[in-house]
Amino acid sequence: MYSDAFFIPRALLLFAVFLAAATGVHAEDGYDLWLRYQPLEAEAREKYRPQLRQLVIPGSEQSPTLKAIEGELVRGVGGLLKRAPGVSAGVNGDGFVLVATPKASRDVRAQNFPVHKLGEEGYLVRSATIRGHRGTVVAANSELGLLYGSFHLLRLLQTRSALEGVSIESRPRIGLRLLNHWDNLDRSVERGYAGQSIWDWWNLPDVLDPRYTDYARANAAIGINGTVLNNVNASADSLTPRYLAKAAALADVFRPYGIRVYLSARFSAPVEIGGLDTADPKDPDVQRWWAHKADEIYRLIPDFGGFLVKANSEGQPGPQDYGRSHAEGANLLARALNPHGGVVMWRAFVYQQDNPEDRAKQAYSDFVPLDGQFDDNVIVQVKNGPIDFQPREPFHPMFGAMPKTPLMMEFQITKEYLGFASHLAYLGPMYEEVLRADTFAEGPGSTVAKVIDGSLHGHQLTGIAGVANIGSDRDWTGSTFNQANWYVFGRMAWNPQTGAEEVARDWLKITFSNNPVVLATGQDMLRDSRQAVVDYMTPLGLAHLMATGHHYGPGPWVSDLARPEWNPAYYHRADKNGIGFDRTSEGSNAVAQYADPVAKRFASRSDVGDDLLLWFHHLPWDYPMTSGRDLWEELVHRYDTGVAEVREMRAQWQSLEPLIDAERFDKTARLLRVQEREAQWWRDASIAYFQSVSQRPLPEGVAPPAHSLEHYQAVKYPWAPGH
Ligand code: GCU
Repeated sequence: MYSDAFFIPRALLLFAVFLAAATGVHAEDGYDLWLRYQPLEAEAREKYRPQLRQLVIPGSEQSPTLKAIEGELVRGVGGLLKRAPGVSAGVNGDGFVLVATPKASRDVRAQNFPVHKLGEEGYLVRSATIRGHRGTVVAANSELGLLYGSFHLLRLLQTRSALEGVSIESRPRIGLRLLNHWDNLDRSVERGYAGQSIWDWWNLPDVLDPRYTDYARANAAIGINGTVLNNVNASADSLTPRYLAKAAALADVFRPYGIRVYLSARFSAPVEIGGLDTADPKDPDVQRWWAHKADEIYRLIPDFGGFLVKANSEGQPGPQDYGRSHAEGANLLARALNPHGGVVMWRAFVYQQDNPEDRAKQAYSDFVPLDGQFDDNVIVQVKNGPIDFQPREPFHPMFGAMPKTPLMMEFQITKEYLGFASHLAYLGPMYEEVLRADTFAEGPGSTVAKVIDGSLHGHQLTGIAGVANIGSDRDWTGSTFNQANWYVFGRMAWNPQTGAEEVARDWLKITFSNNPVVLATGQDMLRDSRQAVVDYMTPLGLAHLMATGHHYGPGPWVSDLARPEWNPAYYHRADKNGIGFDRTSEGSNAVAQYADPVAKRFASRSDVGDDLLLWFHHLPWDYPMTSGRDLWEELVHRYDTGVAEVREMRAQWQSLEPLIDAERFDKTARLLRVQEREAQWWRDASIAYFQSVSQRPLPEGVAPPAHSLEHYQAVKYPWAPGH
């Protein structure tokens, strides 16, 4: 018995190994992200090998960053080409890679590269001849620039780009390129769907998981240069000595990779951990407390980045508790950090339950009058849209509306409202749509990208943050395809003009293979995936139709929650006569918060476009759409389209089975099956509900929902993750 049981799986295993070897795909669990240095195809290896024989990095023994670069290049080139370059003290043959600042290397100086254009973090990757030898130089003004340049060099190989004659010059357009972790001290993650927090707070600072280093490598590879470790719904304990020591240990691991540590600060910390009886920004004791706290932090973390603050929002404490403004609150912390060079990222995600104003207008109403009142080291962090990370929103009206205040972007990488980690939705097209949106604040061409890169209003302090989708799961993000969202966030943070499709292609090459079928099919899937979610969840500009609390399944019928703006019914306003939120001058007039040509476009039923139609307009069910259908028919059609898109995506993935390693293929296939089932659920539940309201018959040929409305209303998910 025993030997049989042993023998059969072993034979199967050998067969599987044989198969994998024959097809050239290897078992992979997704841990390696874009640091996956699997051997390139033989032809590419042959092409690159003579060009990457020798690695020269002057000073690498003394500097942790240079040592990290050396390690990465040896490992990366070694893996990709199945032959590691030799490390050498100087250039002495063809096929060198010289990585150095002009200051550190006479050979780089002699090239007279235009390094002055690169700033602190930029780099050059250039073909060069040194003393008759042909090779490649990575040059920068700082070691950090060299690190980014080296990762770019690796990316050239991973995407099979030519090295011969290469001439790349790159510098980030945005200064603070941050991840925001909504991670709690008990290791739960708010809106996290990939396991627990990667920060093992309990065992820090003594135990340093090697994952922390890999986290830093992965982020540096895409240009991310900071991380906020803890949830914006912050515990004041994060600022106690015990937890600061833990943050400091992480900062030590991240430092060689240029990743600075930031913390979310709870505004009431002076009361909760400081023994004061107020947190009023005008109180001298409070001011002193924050100043001492900042001193203490900088003693432990000399390059500490600063604080992220959620104040007077969703029950969090803030300056308004003391009759002070957001600016007064932000400046309190800014003055404590200023002597050390730290910044305050003050969030504009605010809305009040006792404020009857349209929720989409409240942040603008609160913040725009404060323009000019924030200290120089404050940057206001604004979500991409005016509500809350919906599958589609118009850009936030604050962008462009506060010329005297630097504004930074907050995107969500984790998919709180887009099917968690289980649904496939590539967010690149969404980020691109927002960044390229024209605010017209200073006339045509005043894109959101130009607001946040500082060029529109001449700001030096610039930033972009992504709410991380990272957790303790082996593949970091709960699925292989979710990795693409972390990746594209980094690439667009470096350069907000970067196209989502270009990044998708790079990511597919790096993550799977260079096979043209994989690339073409994968690109189709990535391109259409987010629109699919929009269509099966919140088509035509609808928003916030998710079930209560966890935001996973459909809940358009919910209308009985204590706070009006927590109810989906608040957003869709559907009744027998029509559907949509009137935000024109006849309604909440949210359109007036946009600059003129945009305001006019949004206010016009015919110009706003289908994508945002019901965000801005309340329309009768028989409103004629450009498709020739009426609004009711169009809504049903969109739900059907969303389901069909997922079905198509699933079939596309299935067709790639022979070309993808078994483990990642299988997990993705299973998740797509879940997504198809749940897209159908969303479609059926939504149609059942809206039909009960509109009282209209289903268009001809349309399948009725599988179950009654009551059935869908009874579905509960008490244990949904991330809540
Ligand atoms: C959303 C999310 C919350 C989060 C909040 C925020 O409302 O559901 O979990 O705390 O955004 O951004 O502060």
